[in-house]
Amino acid sequence: MSLNHFLADDLLSKQQLLALIAQGLEIKANPAKYSNALAGKSVVTIFEKPSLRTHISFDIGINKLGGHSLYIGQQNGQLGERERVKDVAKNLACWADIVVARVFKQSVLDEMAEHGGIPVINALSDLYHPCQALADYMALTETFGSLEGLNLAYIGDGNNVSNSLMLMGSVLGVNVTVITPEGHEPTADMISKAQQLAAQSGSTLTISTDIKDAENQQVIYTDTWISMGDDTKVADILAKFMPYQINDELMDKAGASAVMHCQPAHLEQEITTSVFDSDKSLAFLQAENRMWAQNSVLLTLVNGK
Ligand code: NVA
Repeated sequence: MSLNHFLADDLLSKQQLLALIAQGLEIKANPAKYSNALAGKSVVTIFEKPSLRTHISFDIGINKLGGHSLYIGQQNGQLGERERVKDVAKNLACWADIVVARVFKQSVLDEMAEHGGIPVINALSDLYHPCQALADYMALTETFGSLEGLNLAYIGDGNNVSNSLMLMGSVLGVNVTVITPEGHEPTADMISKAQQLAAQSGSTLTISTDIKDAENQQVIYTDTWISMGDDTKVADILAKFMPYQINDELMDKAGASAVMHCQPAHLEQEITTSVFDSDKSLAFLQAENRMWAQNSVLLTLVNGK
């Protein structure tokens, strides 16, 4: 499979996504086989925002593949402030083989991909979190065997994580339901992209503000109600979002056997401690798979060059 970048979920075909998941599972099962796969390669990881899982899973994952990773944190400010984004990209391409970046704006990633001439991986932007979605669908493959026809409901804020889940799920044939409070729905543009992808794969897409639509689901997924960079007051959000909390009652009503969270979890806000700590929780399988899924992407990008 040839892949130039990993920027947004809807830019990959079903075949490409399934191949990335299968390869991630293979690397997870036989890590020693891949211990030199990135030998002699350098990966620059740039973070404009805080990170625990993404930073560490890339760093350790690259090390497990025999590659070298170099971290650039928030002390350098936002990309495009000191010099043009396209010049940063062209400089990085002089030395590095791949760039991983967590950015405030998706357009910065697109610009780096356009001008750098080396693969760019989206490590979270305002619009997408494709590394998370790939790890999530890998976890669901392990848990349910197949993704086709699986019923998954995302409940909470319409954001980068829900966009990626909705788009990637629609490509993969997952029946995705997104339930948010009014005013927090995915944008019309995202919904329209997901509708087209769902029509192609034969899955269903439901967008709702009614929590009662969380019935007949196998998987419930949630994320923080306030994303990084969002300065909405906590008190305003709590009042609006509390009816959408993932708790034992909601899990029972939905009939779901699995609950997912990309973390960091805000316990007793979007999810109760009881549900997060329950044996239905896939949160730490998701976290573990971040590394294996990302290693699959890194390997494919390096081989595609
Ligand atoms: N929606 C969250 C995801 C964190 C991994 C954020 O953007 O902060």
